[in-house]
Amino acid sequence: MNRKVTIDALKKKRDAVILAHNYQLPEIQDVADFVGDSLELSIQAKETDAHTIVFCGVDFMAETAKILCPEKTVLLPVKDATCPLANYLDAETILKAKELHPGAPVVLYINSTAESKAYADVVCTSANAVKVVRSLPSDEVIVGPDANLAAFIQDQLPQKKIVPVPPEGHCYVHDYFTEQDVREARRRGGMIICHPECRPGIQKISDIIASTGGMVSAAPQAEVWNIFTEKGMAYRLKTLFPDKTFYVKEEAICEDMKKTTLDDLVSSLEKNQYRIELSREVMDRARNAIERMIEIGR
Ligand code: 13P
Ligand code: SF4
Repeated sequence: MNRKVTIDALKKKRDAVILAHNYQLPEIQDVADFVGDSLELSIQAKETDAHTIVFCGVDFMAETAKILCPEKTVLLPVKDATCPLANYLDAETILKAKELHPGAPVVLYINSTAESKAYADVVCTSANAVKVVRSLPSDEVIVGPDANLAAFIQDQLPQKKIVPVPPEGHCYVHDYFTEQDVREARRRGGMIICHPECRPGIQKISDIIASTGGMVSAAPQAEVWNIFTEKGMAYRLKTLFPDKTFYVKEEAICEDMKKTTLDDLVSSLEKNQYRIELSREVMDRARNAIERMIEIGR
């Protein structure tokens, strides 16, 4: 049987929906019910009627879906698909930062562990980080774990003091873009759009800074694009805008995002694996922070 047919039959049997991040392999994007950025996928997870959510992405994304829908079965097809950026931060570091900056609210990037989110006042994604921080009445705000995203927020909101926690947190895929990449892109021509996980120096000389969903929204503005984010984004953009040109950096690969294959997806649906399980207490505390973000974004 062809794999698309197998997946459709298993989806029906399990009453499942397949969510896939924009960085997933093309064959996964092709069979997913929804492809999107972290914010879009969180909203899809919250709103789906399906009994089971299969999350093709990395662990913090599937955990977010579980926190928002604790009564549903949430599956991550590859058990160890994780995000090294999320793993920069733990509860102890957050508590230390709170001690050093009493009264400053904690805004955590969605790329963080469920245990860390339990200590957040509000969560944000790259699509709404500035809006979330702007909405807070406090002049000082703790932001983690991505220092580059924190620098982006600081640049947009100079009236506030943003405290990055930890100061060295970064995504190895995005931190890898250099000024040389910008020079090459300028020689090639086209617009440069970078993810806010890129270094501040790269953000400053790019034309647009956007989440992966923001890149989809911006695409109609030009014919040729240099995309400074994970390579998988080019497939997503090319599927939506086949007549446009998208240049990406071939080495910009998130290894964990690329772990999920069609075989893993089939096994996940067949064996109901790997189920996300979190403690009730962590989920209840983290849910407040995630729902607050979704409310601010509406
Ligand atoms: P987006 O929410 O912009 O898709 O970003 C997620 C991510 O992991 C970027 O590396
Ligand atoms: Fe994490 Fe970076 Fe991979 Fe995104 S691209 S999932 S931030 S390691």
